[in-house]
Amino acid sequence: MLETKIIKVDKNQPERDKIKMAAEIIRKGGLVAFPTETVYGLGGNALDEDAAKKIYAAKGRPQDNPLIVHIWDISQLNQLVKEIPEKARLLMDKFWPGPLTIIFHKNDVVPFGTTGGLDTVAIRMPSHPVALELIKEAGVPIAAPSANISGKPSPVCAEEVAEDMTGRIDMILDGGKASVGVESTVLDLSEEVPIILRPGGVTREELQEVLGRVDLDPGLAPGEKPRSPGQKYRHYAPDAPMTLVEGPIDRQVKTINELAEKLESQGLKVGIMATAQTRHLYTSGHIISAGDRTAPLTISSNIFTILRKFDRLGVDQILAEGISKDGIGLAVMNRLYKAAGYNVIKV
Ligand code: TXA
Ligand code: MG
Repeated sequence: MLETKIIKVDKNQPERDKIKMAAEIIRKGGLVAFPTETVYGLGGNALDEDAAKKIYAAKGRPQDNPLIVHIWDISQLNQLVKEIPEKARLLMDKFWPGPLTIIFHKNDVVPFGTTGGLDTVAIRMPSHPVALELIKEAGVPIAAPSANISGKPSPVCAEEVAEDMTGRIDMILDGGKASVGVESTVLDLSEEVPIILRPGGVTREELQEVLGRVDLDPGLAPGEKPRSPGQKYRHYAPDAPMTLVEGPIDRQVKTINELAEKLESQGLKVGIMATAQTRHLYTSGHIISAGDRTAPLTISSNIFTILRKFDRLGVDQILAEGISKDGIGLAVMNRLYKAAGYNVIKV
């Protein structure tokens, strides 16, 4: 068991002494969880195979699921990758720092331990000041998966990281709540048409404005083989089974009410993930509003916390509303599909 220090940092102007302490741990091969604009990351030296091993062990993560390497400045990129395609340059100009991860061919300095044995490497430059300062001060790129136990919802605040990682890592930098709430978009540029391997904080529409056509990995559909190793694993899963209901809003509400009533009559405890527009329409169950349908960022920033809350409440079944797949809604629905193990009712 490690003693996990939790250190509060100013999220806009992180204190130098605290960043120095955390950077020292990374340089010595230890692990530090830190905030990014998407979710909290579990960071270790990306160039140190032993640090990568520790990350996999702390998360209980399968070894073939590659890590994202985080940089603070474009100048770090040349060392890590074989070439920078023109499309990547356009995207970096527009979306870095920010929630976009790009896949490159890796250089030898990046150990296979970090890339899950692949000869490609996923790289992103986060926009959160604490993340940027930490990477800069560490002097090495930082490999960081989401700071949850493998399979659990990703953490969006230090308390959620502590829930999973206490005793497993050296330090948690507490920089408050992550604003986007779902992870970065992972993009593959190796084909003629760019492919989204994981929808995330930068939307498909935004990418299309820069690149023209952008496809979604067909492997994201249930039962298909995804191109990104991480997408094949069960993910974001709450303890209770979850059912996702999709369709016109009034029919979603009607179906969820019927299901909730039936389950409660069997003596089961039901959690309902509603929205601001619908929460007053439910007649039973433990109802939590994810956010406002007209402002989907309010929803993306809440879904993982709500899934964890239902675990804490000990509900027997979660019933969740679907939302529009426009914009960040695509990433939200991808996470909800997975949390529900693709148990979806279309109404
Ligand atoms: O927003 C984020 O991306 C967060 C924060 C901490 O930056 N990180 C994150 O990392 O979500 P993780 O490890 O939970 O998810 C990484 C995803 C996985 O689906 C993995 O399979 C994919 O990126 N990935 C990483 N390297 C890849 C590669 N070389 N080729 C294809 N997919 C890759
Ligand atoms: Mg993850």
